[in-house]
Amino acid sequence: MIPSKPLAHWRSGDPEQAHSFPSRYYYDAGVFQREVEAIFYPAWHFAGHRSEVSEPGDFIKVDVLDQSVLVVCGEDGVARAFHNVCQHRGTRLVEERRGRIEHVIRCPYHAWAYRLDGRLRRAPRSDSVRGFDPGGVSLAPVRIEEVSSFLFVNLDPEATPFREDVGASAPLMARCFPDLPDMELVEELDYEVAANWKVVAENAIEGYHFSLSGPVHKDLAGLIRFDDYRLTPHGKWWTYMGPTEPGQSQAYGREIGDAKYQTDWFVNVGFWPHTTLYTFPFTDFVGSFNQFPLGPEKTLLRFAYYRPQRPESEVTKECMRWMSYDLGPEDIDLNERQQRGLRSFGYDSGRLFVDSERGNNSEHLVHHFQSLVAEALRAHQPSLEEVGGA
Ligand code: FES
Ligand SMILES: [Fe+2]
Repeated sequence: MIPSKPLAHWRSGDPEQAHSFPSRYYYDAGVFQREVEAIFYPAWHFAGHRSEVSEPGDFIKVDVLDQSVLVVCGEDGVARAFHNVCQHRGTRLVEERRGRIEHVIRCPYHAWAYRLDGRLRRAPRSDSVRGFDPGGVSLAPVRIEEVSSFLFVNLDPEATPFREDVGASAPLMARCFPDLPDMELVEELDYEVAANWKVVAENAIEGYHFSLSGPVHKDLAGLIRFDDYRLTPHGKWWTYMGPTEPGQSQAYGREIGDAKYQTDWFVNVGFWPHTTLYTFPFTDFVGSFNQFPLGPEKTLLRFAYYRPQRPESEVTKECMRWMSYDLGPEDIDLNERQQRGLRSFGYDSGRLFVDSERGNNSEHLVHHFQSLVAEALRAHQPSLEEVGGA
């Protein structure tokens, strides 16, 4: 008989002695549901750059599992966030990811019309309904915060302000990405990955696979001075960054020449639980990288690119293409292979390779991330023995 895999203990403990999460954490529907409640409903979610909602009526829609949030710029130029639902009989208001609303947000069912600040302006036939006060109806607000020119929303009215969690990253962001306040969206791409969201997240936060996996990764590893690549946890945010090898004349198959770029470093700044903002050496764009879970073994991986308001160099253009169609897919292939392996009866958990130097190949950020997941699950459900403490 094949034994079912236990939902074994995982203890944060000493990172240098640690094992990875038991494999069931990556496909079990019960664990996923706990993560939804403990991590995703209360999390700060990336919406977009503030420039995307800078004119009255500009909107972005952010879906988090079965919840949907509308971020819309008011007539006063202020970006507000609302639950994307009509207050009459609960119809979803907007289905597009982004666009511009003319004057009012109109429900497609009975045409209730909301002002851009969320207040109900008009409900057809409301005169004939006794005691109905349109002035007392508004879209349900959602919290919104701007961090380093990007907008984040949170469904939990009691969540810790995002600035308290990740605000300390702002000076680094400003130094590495000086043009961030004036950037604009170039492109956004969504990939559906057949893997748990943690598989995708953990792949991004370790350099161990860089020079050991596919050919595109090896190209990247050749560009950066990998000995000086460092991965650093700061509580609910983290960085992994390093300088380039000196004397580079080409990157991503293009001449660097006099191309403009914000930094010649490879810079990644991660925010708990699922946002990364980054740039590649010699490029002038900032990328965002988000894992929105769709199910225990399905993740929406959303790439977006933002650029300063000046013409793109060939290096920048090629790097965005290379990220979307070369490097990204190489990682996605690894993610999906790992996910298939995690279901094997022949595997449960393996040793994390964390070295005492916390060097470029060390998996200490994976351990840090798993500790944050375990802590969130335990805080949400203190009786949860299987995700025990230190
Ligand atoms: S459900 Fe929106 S107007 Fe009726
Ligand atoms: Fe990778």
